[in-house]
Amino acid sequence: MAALSRFSLFTLFSLACIALLSTLCSAGDPYVFYDFRVSYITASPLGVPQQVIAVNGKFPGPPINATTNNNVVVNVHNELDENFLMTWSGVQMRRNSWQDGVLGTNCPIPPSWNWTYQFQVKDQIGSFFYFPSLNLQRASGGFGSFHINNRAEINVPFNLPAGDIFITIGDWYTQNHTALRTALDAGKDLGMPDGVLINGKGPYQYNNTLVPDGIQYETINVDSGKTYRIRVHNVGISTSLNFRIQNHNLVLAETEGYYTMQQNYTNLDIHVGQSYSFLITMDQNASSDYYIVASARFVNESLWQRVTGVAVLHYSNSKGPASGPLPDPPNDFYDKTWSMNQALSIRQNGSASGARPNPQGSFHYGQINVTDLYVIKTVPPQIIGGKLRATLNGISFANLTTPIRLADKNNVRGAYKLDFPNKPLNRTPRTDISVINATYKGFIEIIFQNNNTAVQSFHLDGYSFFLVGMGFGDWTENSRSAYNKWDAITRSTTQVFPGAWTAVLVSLDNPGVWNLRTQNLDRWYLGQETYLRIVNPEESGETEFGVPNNVLYCGALASRQQEQKHSSATSISRGSSRLLISLLVAFFTLVCTFR
Ligand SMILES: *[C@@H]1O[C@H](CO)[C@@H](O)[C@H](O)[C@H]1NC(C)=O
Ligand SMILES: *[C@@H]1O[C@H](CO)[C@@H](O)[C@H](O)[C@H]1NC(C)=O
Ligand SMILES: *[C@@H]1O[C@H](CO)[C@@H](O)[C@H](O)[C@H]1NC(C)=O
Ligand SMILES: *[C@@H]1O[C@H](CO)[C@@H](O)[C@H](O)[C@H]1NC(C)=O
Ligand SMILES: *[C@@H]1O[C@H](CO)[C@@H](O)[C@H](O)[C@H]1NC(C)=O
Ligand SMILES: *[C@@H]1O[C@H](CO)[C@@H](O)[C@H](O)[C@H]1NC(C)=O
Ligand SMILES: *[C@@H]1O[C@H](CO)[C@@H](O)[C@H](O)[C@H]1NC(C)=O
Ligand SMILES: *[C@@H]1O[C@H](CO)[C@@H](O)[C@H](O)[C@H]1NC(C)=O
Ligand SMILES: *[C@@H]1O[C@H](CO)[C@@H](O)[C@H](O)[C@H]1NC(C)=O
Ligand SMILES: *[C@@H]1O[C@H](CO)[C@@H](O)[C@H](O)[C@H]1NC(C)=O
Ligand SMILES: *[C@@H]1O[C@H](CO)[C@@H](O)[C@H](O)[C@H]1NC(C)=O
Ligand SMILES: *[C@@H]1O[C@H](CO)[C@@H](O)[C@H](O)[C@H]1NC(C)=O
Repeated sequence: MAALSRFSLFTLFSLACIALLSTLCSAGDPYVFYDFRVSYITASPLGVPQQVIAVNGKFPGPPINATTNNNVVVNVHNELDENFLMTWSGVQMRRNSWQDGVLGTNCPIPPSWNWTYQFQVKDQIGSFFYFPSLNLQRASGGFGSFHINNRAEINVPFNLPAGDIFITIGDWYTQNHTALRTALDAGKDLGMPDGVLINGKGPYQYNNTLVPDGIQYETINVDSGKTYRIRVHNVGISTSLNFRIQNHNLVLAETEGYYTMQQNYTNLDIHVGQSYSFLITMDQNASSDYYIVASARFVNESLWQRVTGVAVLHYSNSKGPASGPLPDPPNDFYDKTWSMNQALSIRQNGSASGARPNPQGSFHYGQINVTDLYVIKTVPPQIIGGKLRATLNGISFANLTTPIRLADKNNVRGAYKLDFPNKPLNRTPRTDISVINATYKGFIEIIFQNNNTAVQSFHLDGYSFFLVGMGFGDWTENSRSAYNKWDAITRSTTQVFPGAWTAVLVSLDNPGVWNLRTQNLDRWYLGQETYLRIVNPEESGETEFGVPNNVLYCGALASRQQEQKHSSATSISRGSSRLLISLLVAFFTLVCTFR
């Protein structure tokens, strides 16, 4: 045991010495450490026992709490029976796609192995979440909130809230991810979810016909008269949700890392993968508790009644339980105009500071010339090679086995193709590893055209984009006349309504390879994704971080991967590994100070 510890200590110090030679040393910025054990536990959120994915025994997982410029270290232990990768939705991983945790950037962590992510949350603030990126695992859990606080010296455009509350909402099936995968592999639709969970819990029994006895529900405890920041993430599979709190205004303050013009909403549509912060003042008379509701959107409410999440807002001086009907949802099943207008009403507060003291609004994105246009179209799933697949511009992404930058650095040929078309082509759909050859420092316009029947969310890793426009019908160059060129919100996940388009502008200043995908989990699983490969042609080790020294190898490079020695990892007690980490931090601090 002692010998093993000494061995590990030596290994850690060797790693630190190697790190010295690379760019891992981030000028003395503080570190935050997390040890994540990912395993199955049994839970019954909807009254039916099922295996869910927990992090450190918790479902949802524990929040990651970081501050701008922190170095975040997360040692992920895969205690599942299948490969695993954690990804960090909306966290930008600047210059460091090596830590992004999707198959195009990382080899999967095999069962019973662990792998340590390390990245700096450089110049970022805001509300994000983490989740498992492989094999539909998010349908079984593994997610949690990830928020980045502002540094104390940076002003925030609102008074310090009385509390910071995290809420995950999402549709849920009582079947686990392996069963759902089997359905998709057989060409089936997942059908109507069994419910909506709020913080991993089922609905409060607001109606005893619709909600069975014995369901554990979430209670948010607050004090009368105070204002709280409530961060809400839709971590679900494919259902757009309408979020509302009975009798309370939602003052929207932030979306995925950017402060908004603060406005009151009585309810807000939150699509899969989106995050928002609301400031909510407890200004009611506490005659009872109040309902917190997340209900399925754009569906026939009378058929989808059970797909409704209900939690309880409990004032400390509350005089009784919530009762009566839920607050009304918007009533526009056939017309998405209201929802689109609501999305377009979310604007950026250009005079609020973000992570840095200079105003975010000083970036005049509306005056920058666009260098490349990508029109990315999605259609309903099709049969390709005998299998039901989903596509972007006629290409279904699949079977990437060697991460893209790892293949580049090791001269692996044929791991991927740089030929993703910049507009939909009238070609036979195919399955391919087709990646966008994007230009470093370019300023690109991406049009997401949804020729499908349901709302889809599109997400770009590594970046935030300016959401400049949305409209019904097919996008044309004339659509640009309606773009918001002044105060468009910046975010990383946008909804695209069916039969409609969404336009975003992105400044390609973050080198690496970045996943562009549908957040709707079923479609993503069926191949609705690609990557942007962005490499500085004059790369000299300054713009993009090098291969991390703990990199895992797989695919064409599998022979380079050594078997992981579990004995040392598992036999060290928590206490001594914490000691090792402290020593490592001390070493880093020393090294960074004298550099
Ligand atoms: C998922 O559910 C199937 C049955 O539907 C079961 O056979 C399997 O063991 C479950 N997997 C996990 C990890 O719980
Ligand atoms: C997050 O971390 C900050 C700084 O360490 C601390 O002040 C704050 O209380 C933490 N918040 C939560 C919710 O843990
Ligand atoms: C696995 O975890 C151990 C500590 O439990 C750590 O020393 C080791 O560096 C980790 N391995 C990787 C590849 O991150
Ligand atoms: C915008 O930010 C400024 C600076 O923090 C703040 O004073 C102002 O109230 C904010 N405006 C809105 C509408 O949110
Ligand atoms: C409960 O829901 C059922 C089914 O929608 C409805 O018929 C009934 O009126 C509801 N009960 C109450 C007390 O609202
Ligand atoms: C929101 O509404 C409340 C009460 O209706 C009002 O007091 C508050 O000033 C409003 N806030 C904003 C930002 O409009
Ligand atoms: C509290 O507010 C509710 C709804 O606004 C109202 O019906 C009720 O009479 C109020 N109760 C008290 C004690 O003021
Ligand atoms: C919703 O479904 C019910 C039951 O099938 C049906 O009677 C009703 O017409 C549907 N409503 C709409 C708006 O399609
Ligand atoms: C944008 O392009 C136009 C011509 O197409 C040119 O006149 C203008 O200077 C360019 N603007 C910038 C900021 O480069
Ligand atoms: C991926 O590769 C496997 C094994 O080579 C093959 O069976 C499968 O059909 C491929 N999937 C796609 C979508 O091409
Ligand atoms: C990618 O784009 C660059 C120009 O930005 C070009 O030089 C290069 O040949 C392209 N690569 C491929 C494989 O098309
Ligand atoms: C899909 O495209 C076809 C052909 O352009 C059009 O007729 C149809 O209305 C579109 N459907 C949707 C949902 O966008």
